[in-house]
Amino acid sequence: MSYRVVVAGATGACGTAIVRELAQSGKCAGVTALVRRPHTFAGCDRERVSSVQVPSLDALLDDSGGNGASGVARTVFGEGVQFEAAVCALGSTMKESGGSREAFRRVDYDYVCAFVRAALAAGARRVVLVSAAGASEDSWFFYSRVKGEAERAVSALCREQGAALWILRPALLLTPARNRGSRRPAEAAVQWLVRALRLSMGGHLAVTVEEVARITRDVLDSAEGEGAHGLQRVLSRNADGAIVCSSAAIHAMAARWTPSEKISQ
Ligand SMILES: NC(=O)c1ccc[n+]([C@@H]2O[C@H](COP(=O)([O-])OP(=O)(O)OC[C@H]3O[C@@H](n4cnc5c(N)ncnc54)[C@H](OP(=O)(O)O)[C@@H]3O)[C@@H](O)[C@H]2O)c1
Repeated sequence: MSYRVVVAGATGACGTAIVRELAQSGKCAGVTALVRRPHTFAGCDRERVSSVQVPSLDALLDDSGGNGASGVARTVFGEGVQFEAAVCALGSTMKESGGSREAFRRVDYDYVCAFVRAALAAGARRVVLVSAAGASEDSWFFYSRVKGEAERAVSALCREQGAALWILRPALLLTPARNRGSRRPAEAAVQWLVRALRLSMGGHLAVTVEEVARITRDVLDSAEGEGAHGLQRVLSRNADGAIVCSSAAIHAMAARWTPSEKISQ
């Protein structure tokens, strides 16, 4: 069954790779990227990738019309727009979000939950959430705690709506070198070290954004929404039934992956 997919965080390192990968799937009927400002998805067929520009994702939180998630979905995505799938690769850092815990949480929790709620209201029944290794509501680390809380809230939302949820938990994300250098020099330096010393340790320490993108496509392309490689047995489910995919599992699955169906050129 073909699907249309909406992607939040589409302009990020991971999101860009995901958009590019999904745009090449013969099973994907179209990718809609939620963006803050105009963005060109280099190398993607413009017929297959479109954008919805929302300058502030506060729009996802605004229920002033009183119509709940479906009203928000109509306002943000457009009247009558439907998706079968949604991918959330939104994320920030304390520094980039404005320096406060509240600002970070607004992106990594509030916007993430609001996006998934709106996507579900627009019909999405397969959801992929890019979270992070170590995500846990009980973590001592604020970043990991927020990620864990977002996982929990998104899992509950998907369960309520009968949607299948995959939670991907990458460790360090290895991105194309040009993406990070100037913006996050420390992260770029660690990436360089991991690559130079081949330290990814089977995905335990790091995975590439392309690996995350392949797994996202694999999950959404497969008929059951459970990935084509029978590795579900090594994955765990959380209390809400969402499949949780560790960084090592992302690496292992990506290594075995071949595209299910390419678009005809
Ligand atoms: N980087 C890592 O090593 C790493 C490791 C593990 C997990 N993760 C997680 O993986 C996910 C993807 O990471 P990434 O490295 O690809 O992130 P990224 O490159 O920083 O991209 C983040 C995306 O979120 C959007 N975003 C950030 N703040 C926003 C705001 N206030 N309003 C609207 N959109 C906003 C960005 O949009 P703009 O382009 O408009 O800014 C961008 O599309 C995140 O959840 C991250 O926490 C990252």
